[in-house]
Amino acid sequence: MSNGYRAKITAIGGYVPPGIISNHDLEKIVETNDEWIVTRTGIRERHVAPKEMATSDMAVEAARIVLSRAGVAPSGIHAIFVCTVTPDMLFPATACLVQDKLGAAGAWGYDLLAACSGFVYGLTTAAHIVSVGPPKKILVIGADTMTRILDYKDRSTCILFGDAAAAFLVETANPGEEGFVDFVNEVDGSGGQFLYMPAGGSRLPASAETVAARQHYVHQDGQQVFKYAVRKMSEMTETLLRRNGLTVDDITLLIPHQANRRIIEATAKALSMPLDRVVINIDKYGNTTGATLPLATIDAVESGRLKKGGLVLYAAVGAGYTAGASLWRWNF
Ligand code: UT7
Repeated sequence: MSNGYRAKITAIGGYVPPGIISNHDLEKIVETNDEWIVTRTGIRERHVAPKEMATSDMAVEAARIVLSRAGVAPSGIHAIFVCTVTPDMLFPATACLVQDKLGAAGAWGYDLLAACSGFVYGLTTAAHIVSVGPPKKILVIGADTMTRILDYKDRSTCILFGDAAAAFLVETANPGEEGFVDFVNEVDGSGGQFLYMPAGGSRLPASAETVAARQHYVHQDGQQVFKYAVRKMSEMTETLLRRNGLTVDDITLLIPHQANRRIIEATAKALSMPLDRVVINIDKYGNTTGATLPLATIDAVESGRLKKGGLVLYAAVGAGYTAGASLWRWNF
């Protein structure tokens, strides 16, 4: 890295709201069934934030856990990135709300809108800012309240997503320590039409008509996104491995974005990566957009699958299209 400063991840933590919507609950809302959802997506349940809770509230809960595990005071944070497509409001940035609620007096920050690739972009951004020196601590938070932008009349999307927040502390490694290794990020804006929220921006401001037309919800052509996700996640992984003189056997764990179990399995198959080295927890949370990668990491660490010295490869694809992968040597 430039100037010789390497980034490392030193603490992780998540917040999942207690409310649960099971597949059976959804059967009462739209024409669907548990069997279809489980076989087509792998999802069994997803969490839902209570009405009074917004994205910044979940983000703050996750951030507090990270800070307490790291033994770092809020005043020691240099920057806060909130990776989200469901900010509390368009502006101010959710990062500013989080900064205030945490009392992180010295921190700057912003929201990073790259949909399901948000967290992997956030990690890469933090690693590059850390590389400039002097030593820094950055909170990268993936947080989404997806249930607020789901159309519960559209069975093809409302079954997929859930609410959660999770965060990493990214900081400057000591000389000789490992951490951030490499990344690949890509955007293909021609895919924007396949996953988007039509209204609420400058193109189509909110009006009685946009609300009546249900344009403030997630709209998706699932099959298009599915094919792109499998192709890109495996391509990016192969690029990262090749460039670093590695093979699939060198990777301790692949932590992919959790959008659909079949996407993950097809990606693993394309890479000849055995599933026992792939983290899958979509059954418990559904697709939590910005939060899937850190939540899956927490599961991997807590279950003992990821330990100090492990090589972890993150891969994600999201609305945009955005796509990203990054490689980290685990530090704790
Ligand atoms: O994280 C960001 C990126 N998002 C993704 O990666 C999502 C990618 N796409 C997918 O995960 C999948 O495409 C879906 C889960 C969204 C859909 O699965 P699919 O296997 O592609 O199903 P499909 O859209 O081809 O639909 C097959 C059938 C259709 O019925 P007909 O036309 O065959 O009669 C749908 O109407 O399944 C029907 N269907 C449902 N049936 C029961 C769609 N949604 C449901 C549902 N319950 N919830």
